[in-house]
Amino acid sequence: MAREVTHTATGPLKLDEDDLDPEKGDVAVCLCGLSDDYPFCDGSHRVTEDEEEGVVYRYEDGERRVVSEDE
Ligand code: FES
Repeated sequence: MAREVTHTATGPLKLDEDDLDPEKGDVAVCLCGLSDDYPFCDGSHRVTEDEEEGVVYRYEDGERRVVSEDE
């Protein structure tokens, strides 16, 4: 599985101790590309749990569509 995401940043974001979750004491960085609180994970990755191998997805406006599939 894979997904297409759009990133508009042109440089890095430096994290500091203010970014730590006060309850957990850590910081979760989004690697799925779907977080509304990017670069921090907001739990949006849960919608990717049933993605299938060999399929590329795009998520837009709350909808998931298939971009391509391996044959
Ligand atoms: S890893 Fe992207 S929202 Fe959690």
